[in-house]
Amino acid sequence: MTTHKLLLLPGDGIGLETMTEVERIIAFFNAQGGGHSFETESDLVGGAAYDAHGVAVTDACVATAKAADAVIFGAVGGPKWADAPYAQRPEAGLLRLRKDLDLFANLRPAICYPALADASSLKRELVEGLDIMIVRELTGGVYFGEPKEIVTLEDGGKRAVDTQLYTTREIARIAKVAFDLARKRGNKVHSAEKHNVMKTGVLWKEVVTETHKTYAPDVELHHILADNCAMQLVRNPKQFDVIVTDNLFGDVLSDEAAMATGSLGMLPSASLGAADEKTGKRMALYEPVHGSAPDIAGKGLANPIATIASFGMALRYSCGMSEQADLIDNAIAGVLADGLRTGDIMQPGMTEVGTSEMGAAIVKKLETLVA
Ligand code: NAD
Ligand code: IPM
Ligand code: MN
Repeated sequence: MTTHKLLLLPGDGIGLETMTEVERIIAFFNAQGGGHSFETESDLVGGAAYDAHGVAVTDACVATAKAADAVIFGAVGGPKWADAPYAQRPEAGLLRLRKDLDLFANLRPAICYPALADASSLKRELVEGLDIMIVRELTGGVYFGEPKEIVTLEDGGKRAVDTQLYTTREIARIAKVAFDLARKRGNKVHSAEKHNVMKTGVLWKEVVTETHKTYAPDVELHHILADNCAMQLVRNPKQFDVIVTDNLFGDVLSDEAAMATGSLGMLPSASLGAADEKTGKRMALYEPVHGSAPDIAGKGLANPIATIASFGMALRYSCGMSEQADLIDNAIAGVLADGLRTGDIMQPGMTEVGTSEMGAAIVKKLETLVA
C-alpha cells in the first residue's frame, strides 16, 4: 500500500466549498483501496490565515507543504481583505508557496469536454475537441522582480515600479518542460512573448530557440507575439497544442483559454518544481485557475470541477495514479454528458445543480465506472 500525504489548503471564498467536494473524491479512493491511500492534513491560507495568524501563510504551513507529496489548493482573496497590508494580502500566501517550493512550471490544460461544446462563448466548431496545454512560468518575471515599490516624488506625486526580469536558466527550464510535454502530445509549441517591446522578450525568444535545438525536428516551434496569441486563442484556438509563456502573459492567456472550455470553473492546474535527480520526486501544488469568486461565495453555486480536476492532476503527476486520474476525467465527462450543470456552464434543457450536488454526482459516477 502506498500512502500519499496531501496538504489541503481550501483558502477563502469558494475555495472552501470546492475543497469539500475534493474531500469526497479522496474518501472514495480511500474506500477503494487498490494499493493507494491518502493521508490528509488541512491548514489555513490567504485571508483565513491572515485573520487567524496575521500572515497570509505561516512558516509552519510552508514547511508542511514542502514535506507533503502534494498540496491541493482552493482559492484565496476577497473584498474582506482589501485593507490588509500589501505583504500580507491573501494572494501573497499563494505567491510565497509558489516561490518557496520553487514551483516554476504551471501546467494549465484547457480541454473542452464534448458535452460542453455549446457552453463556450465561442462557436461549437471552434472549441469541439479542443485540447491545449498552457505552460506558464510561475516563479519569475514581473510577479517577483525587484524593485517592486511605490515611491513618493518631490512634487507629491508617486511612482510605481514593477520589474520584469528573466534569466537564461529560468527560461531554459520552462522551455524544456514545454518541449517534453509537446513530445507526448501534438509535437507543437508556441512560445508567446513580446520581443518587439521587451528585453525579456528578446532573451525569452533567444533561449527558447536555443533550447529547441535538441527537440528539433520532431517538435515544431513557433514564436508568437503575446497579443497576437491572445487574439488567435479566440479566433482559432485549435491551432494550438502547447503554449509556453511567462508568468504574467500566462496568467492572462489561461483565463482567456478557459472560456473556450465553457467556464473558468472548469480549468485545473499543476504547479510543479524540478524533479529530484535521485528520487524523481518533485514538490507540487495543484490549484484551479479561478479565484475565490466573492460574487458567488457561500451560496453553494460554485463549479467544483476545476478543483476536482486539479486533484486528478495530483494523481497523475505526484502519485503515479494516472489510471485513477483518467477515471476522474471520465467521471467528469460522464456527469456533463448526463446533463448536470452548475450555473456557470448552464445551458437550456440541462439540469442545474449546486456545488455539493455536482461533487456527489461525480463520486456516484466514479462508483459506476469502477463497478
Ligand atoms: P475569480 O476567478 O474569483 O472570478 C471571476 C468570475 O468567474 C466571477 O464571476 C466568478 O463568479 C466566476 N467563477 C470563478 N470560478 C468559478 C467557479 N468555480 N464556478 C463558477 N463561477 C466561477 O476572479 P476575480 O473575481 O477577479 O477575483 C476574486 C478574488 O480571487 C481576488 O481576490 C483575486 O486576487 C483572487 N484570485 C485568486 C486566485 C487563486 O487563489 N488561485 C486566482 C484568481 C483570483
Ligand atoms: C492565478 C491567480 C494568481 C496569479 C493570483 C491570485 C496571485 O490569478 O493563479 O491565476 O496572478 O498568479
Ligand atoms: Mn489568474
